[in-house]
Amino acid sequence: MARLSVIGAGYLGVTHAVCMAHLGHDVVVIDTNTQRIEQLAAGIVPFHEPELAELLTKTIASGTITFTNDWATIAANADVHFLCVGTPQQSGSHAADMSQVFGAVASLSEHLSGSATVVGKSTVPVGTAATIAAQLKDRCGDDVRLVWNPEFLREGFAVQDTLHPDRIVLGVSDESDANIVKEIYAASLSDGTPLLVTDYATAELVKVAANAFLATKISFINAFADLADATGADITQLADAIGHDTRIGRRFLNAGVGFGGGCLPKDIRALQARATELGLADQFAFLTAVDDINKSRQRTVVERTLEALDGNLEHKTVAILGAAFKPDSDDVRDSPALHVAQTLADNGARVQIHDPEAIRVLRSKESDLVLCDSIEEALTDADVVLHLTEWAVYREIDPAQVGALVRNRVIIDGRNVLDRDRWTNADWSISYLGKPGS
Ligand code: UDX
Repeated sequence: MARLSVIGAGYLGVTHAVCMAHLGHDVVVIDTNTQRIEQLAAGIVPFHEPELAELLTKTIASGTITFTNDWATIAANADVHFLCVGTPQQSGSHAADMSQVFGAVASLSEHLSGSATVVGKSTVPVGTAATIAAQLKDRCGDDVRLVWNPEFLREGFAVQDTLHPDRIVLGVSDESDANIVKEIYAASLSDGTPLLVTDYATAELVKVAANAFLATKISFINAFADLADATGADITQLADAIGHDTRIGRRFLNAGVGFGGGCLPKDIRALQARATELGLADQFAFLTAVDDINKSRQRTVVERTLEALDGNLEHKTVAILGAAFKPDSDDVRDSPALHVAQTLADNGARVQIHDPEAIRVLRSKESDLVLCDSIEEALTDADVVLHLTEWAVYREIDPAQVGALVRNRVIIDGRNVLDRDRWTNADWSISYLGKPGS
């Protein structure tokens, strides 16, 4: 089994480290955030992700994972170093902030001696791997090799996506550099996971191309949702019908309040910024439309809410079901639900918001939203209800029972998944984004 380090204890790093330790590798995790390292060493996962806490506890007990904030420790105890730090959007620009990536490479290379492999997993602008490879060669010589291995995990499925990926992409400057990484992923590869060995630029682009395609698919169907609203068509049936064409596929064609999270929004902006730097602004202008359509979804929900309240938010109570950017996650980064909630609160509404997991995260920040621990608390005295994150628990609500709590039985389903008959049979008026309501 290999001796690995994972640099960066964020979403990607923690999941990757725990899964690699679960596979039996010796893993040491480093992060500059001492508090996070202490938490993890105590077996606490700082975010919600199914299966991860159990695997962390197990791997700590078996001694296959340890935590540190000392670069010399990881250099001495690992031969392969996975770079998993964040590349957030720069403030005041669409480009990625690369300071964590280059900072980590600088710190690591100060301590490396002898041979080692650095494996980049962070999502980066194309061209970064070549720059890092040159820096490593300069500072550490030819025995420190770089492989680029983009990560495609989805929040909520992060453990399964890491243990059973759809594909493994390894960007290299020399094919033999891929061997050590293939050994680390031997379990997935023997299960038949497709492997693609490419150059650095291709590997970097695979990641952003995948995310841009997914974001485009969502904005495509959302544009049609507006057309469906304008014509009385039903966007869900439309998506089902085109989705039967295997060239199109049904996945990522769910219309609604749009995409959010720590990846899709920032990755399409960073891709567009990089393409523009490379003189390809026109070819990638479509991503502005993808981003704009996505933002317009939130405005549509706000407008619908205003219509339901006769144009006046003052002294009105809006109940919001969902705060995370998607179900089975407590991540509120770029969350459409939270943007809508904040806009309504900023314009004078009392916003009572519930989420099975993300409320805990919101409590740690300053907020003028009324954070509710139960669905009932959120719905009490509501003038209108918005369903904005499709947690399973919201589909199980008994509309008749909660009807007694609200002032008006009016619900806007921003995710198009609530059953119309269930709600209308209990005297609710329900509307959707792109399909006829009641
Ligand atoms: C995404 C990519 O799927 C993953 O491969 C990459 O590694 C990181 O970014 P994630 O951010 O976890 O993963 O979320 P994902 O499941 O892709 O959903 C993104 C957003 O799109 C969510 O806000 C979701 O609600 C929205 N979405 C998704 C839709 O609005 N409609 C859909 O049909 C699918």
